[in-house]
Amino acid sequence: MATGLENLRIYSLCSITLTHPKPKTRNQKPKTQNSKLETLNYVRSIKCLYLQKEKQMRFDIITVLPELLESPLNFSIIKRAKDKGLVNIELHNLRDFSKNKHRQVDDYPFGGKAGMVMMIEPIHDAINFLKSQRKYDEIIYTSPDGELFDQKIANELSLKKNILILCGHYKGIDHRIRENLITREISIGNYVLTGGEIAAAVMVDSIVRLLPDAISDETSALSDSFQDNLLAPPVYTRPAEFNGWKVPDILLSGNEAEIEKWKYEQSVLRTKNLRPDLLNDED
Ligand code: ADE
Repeated sequence: MATGLENLRIYSLCSITLTHPKPKTRNQKPKTQNSKLETLNYVRSIKCLYLQKEKQMRFDIITVLPELLESPLNFSIIKRAKDKGLVNIELHNLRDFSKNKHRQVDDYPFGGKAGMVMMIEPIHDAINFLKSQRKYDEIIYTSPDGELFDQKIANELSLKKNILILCGHYKGIDHRIRENLITREISIGNYVLTGGEIAAAVMVDSIVRLLPDAISDETSALSDSFQDNLLAPPVYTRPAEFNGWKVPDILLSGNEAEIEKWKYEQSVLRTKNLRPDLLNDED
C-alpha cells in the first residue's frame, strides 16, 4: 500500500539508523516514545524499495575456505531467506582461479618479513570473472584495517543488490588489489581473526535478516538492539514465576500502551547503564 512517504523515506535510508527519537546525551531525557507508525512506514518504504529493485539480493564470496562459510550461511533465518528466494549466496573458491598446479594462492612478501601474502593474479581473475557476470554495488574486503561494521552499515548494505566479498587471509592481500579493485574495506571489530570468513558470515547474517520477509514479524528486525542506538528491553516467556523469580507485573497487565512505555524506558535505562557511548553517537 503506497503511503506517499516512501520516496521521501527511501532517500533517508542511506543514513539509516531509524529516526526514532533518542536522547542526545547521557542525562538528557528522550523526548517521546518510539512510534509504531514511524516504524511501519519505514518497513513499507523498505518493501517498496525492494519492489523497485525487483530481484533478490546476491552475495558472492571469494574465499580460500568455502567450507568454513557453508555452515553459518545454511541454517535458520539465512537458510529460510535463501529458500524463499530473498537472497542468493554464492561461494567461490579462490584456488579455482590459481594457475599454479598446486592451486597456490599465496606467496612470500617482497621486502622480507614473516608471513605469506595472497597473490594478485588469482584474486584479480576471480573478481574480474564475477564482474563480467554482473555489476556489483560494492566489492568489500574483510580486514582488521577497515571501517568498523555496525548496524548502520548493515542497514545501508541491505539496500544494495549485488555485493562481492573478498575474505582476507595470512598477512593480507597484495595491496594493488586494495588500491584498484576494492570499493570498501570492513572490519568487524578491533581484533585480528585468522581469516575474513567469519567476518563475512557476520556481515551477511546481519544484512540478510533485514531483508523484508526474512523475519516473520516484519517489525522485529527493526526493533533490535542498535537499530535506534538503544539496547533492546529485557524479554521473558512462560512460566510467569520460576524459583520465586517473577516476570515484571506490567508485562502481564495486558495494557499495550503501558507495556510499550515500559519497554522503551527499559531500553533507555539499559543503554545508559551498559552502553552509554551509544547515546552520544550522533550517527
Ligand atoms: N580479518 C582478520 N581480522 C578481521 C576483522 N577484525 N574484521 C574483518 N576481517 C578480519
